[in-house]
Amino acid sequence: MVETISIFEVGPRDGLQNIKNEIPVNKKIELINILSTTGIGKIECGSFVSAKWVPQMRGTNEIFEEIIRGDGVKYTALTPNLKGFENALHAKVDEVAVFAAASETFSQKNVNCSIDESLARFRDLFKKAREKKVPVRGYVSCIVDCPYEGKISPESVLKVASQLLDMGCYEVSLGDTIGRGTPKTIEELLKVLCSEINQKKLAGHFHDTSDTAIRNVEIGLKYGLSTFDSAVGGLGGCPYAPGAKGNLNTRSLIEAFGINSFNEDLDLDKIKFAEKYIGKINQD
Ligand code: HMG
Ligand code: MG
Repeated sequence: MVETISIFEVGPRDGLQNIKNEIPVNKKIELINILSTTGIGKIECGSFVSAKWVPQMRGTNEIFEEIIRGDGVKYTALTPNLKGFENALHAKVDEVAVFAAASETFSQKNVNCSIDESLARFRDLFKKAREKKVPVRGYVSCIVDCPYEGKISPESVLKVASQLLDMGCYEVSLGDTIGRGTPKTIEELLKVLCSEINQKKLAGHFHDTSDTAIRNVEIGLKYGLSTFDSAVGGLGGCPYAPGAKGNLNTRSLIEAFGINSFNEDLDLDKIKFAEKYIGKINQD
């Protein structure tokens, strides 16, 4: 069991990519500026993807230009290909994330190509990231269930996660995209993954559709994972994953394990303030 947990805040990206009303860029910047004062060490601020595919992520470039960067905070973004990576470089992103899936159908729906093709697209990106010394994180979506194919085998997840690590990801975040994972299915998965992969290279990204995210984190901790993704206010979803609800709420994660269980020096009042801020904007 690990003693300390690290939070990877994905609210400004995962939280806002699936929202009905597009949030104005200046409000997103304000949210990120508030999050920068909470003690959280990594904030995923947006995506350098096609605006035709995810219009809510339009303006990510402007966000990176305008945010007030906190000392020691890393500001990250999704990049699906070299074009996205080059835009991210230009925006002085501290770290990027590539994303693949363990389900063929989800891969087609989300990035318009097969799993193998999506990984092949990353090759140029990794080459450039190595040259520029930009850390790359990886995501694997549909770790237990796919909205189109149903149950996904641990072996399919292992294959993609291993390939992402071999290509150069420093960590792979395991996406329970539609939040159907239970402690039982997450344990079955981690048993397989952790027999082949160093658990320090794995993170948990549990959407909370079925109210099981906290218990899934407990299973993650049991298997030695220490980084978990969460979103302010429990926002989140994926436009290409019908039924995907919010991410694990950052405040709930902290309250469940106690503020002293975290690596960061967190300010819960500021996290509550950020939650209130985005809750109000989302209603406007
Ligand atoms: P495509 O249509 O197959 O690609 O999309 P293309 O190369 O034919 O390009 C089409 C157009 O997009 C072209 O523009 C390109 O220039 C442009 P046009 O000539 O038509 O004007 N384009 C780009 N524009 C901006 N930035 C780029 C870029 N690349 C091409 N980087 C593509 C392929 C991957 C681009 C598209 O499918 C896409 O953007 N998909 C993004 C999907 C997405 O962001 N999904 C949500 C994130 S994943 C997620 O939420 C899961 C996660 O949270 C974990 C979990 O919960 O499981 C991470
Ligand atoms: Mg997600």
